[in-house]
Amino acid sequence: MSENIYLQDFKVNLATRQRLNGHKPLVVWFTGLSGSGKSTVANELEKVLFENKVHTYTLDGDNIRLGINKGLSFSPEDRKENLRRVGEIAKLMVDAGLVCIAAFVSPLNADREALKEIIGREYFMEVFVDTPIAVCEERDVKGLYAKARRGEIKDFTGVNAPFESPENPDITLDTSIESLKESVEKVIELVNKKIKL
Ligand code: ADX
Repeated sequence: MSENIYLQDFKVNLATRQRLNGHKPLVVWFTGLSGSGKSTVANELEKVLFENKVHTYTLDGDNIRLGINKGLSFSPEDRKENLRRVGEIAKLMVDAGLVCIAAFVSPLNADREALKEIIGREYFMEVFVDTPIAVCEERDVKGLYAKARRGEIKDFTGVNAPFESPENPDITLDTSIESLKESVEKVIELVNKKIKL
């Protein structure tokens, strides 16, 4: 398929971009159940980074699935494709010099490993939002747990589809026992170390 296609080199590249930005790029990947607090922490993290003049962009599961990944289901195959595409987008953001914040359920180890291969391990920071399912379900912000329990969603993560906990996350959060501020501080400390030129 890639026959007759050649990778092009550009004079403005990651090296020049990171000098201009004053920081290295990074992907901060949030994984966890629906309702665990991924988007909330991601949102606040981006706000603090932005205030510190870090160039950021956030990719969020729900938003991406309303746009470029519209039409993909929650079958294992479609989740894999969802995450593969997001991985390629995040890779472009790394090349653009950005700190890309990504919040996706990303429930399977194999899919998260594939992301690390696409993006490059040195640019991938894994944050496991390990909020107990009872708390996520109690919150049920979108009413999806209730629907899944009633049998109206057949492949809902944590109810009738698996979530495999990351084996070696860089950071683990639990938004049922930590404040938003505490969670963000934990993440930002490591982000700052990783993006320092
Ligand atoms: S992933 O598994 O492919 O990584 P993604 O993060 O893009 O999932 O989308 C998850 C969001 O879609 C959840 O926050 C939830 O609001 C919604 N959603 C709808 N159906 C499901 C489902 N069957 N399983 C998990 N999340 C679902």
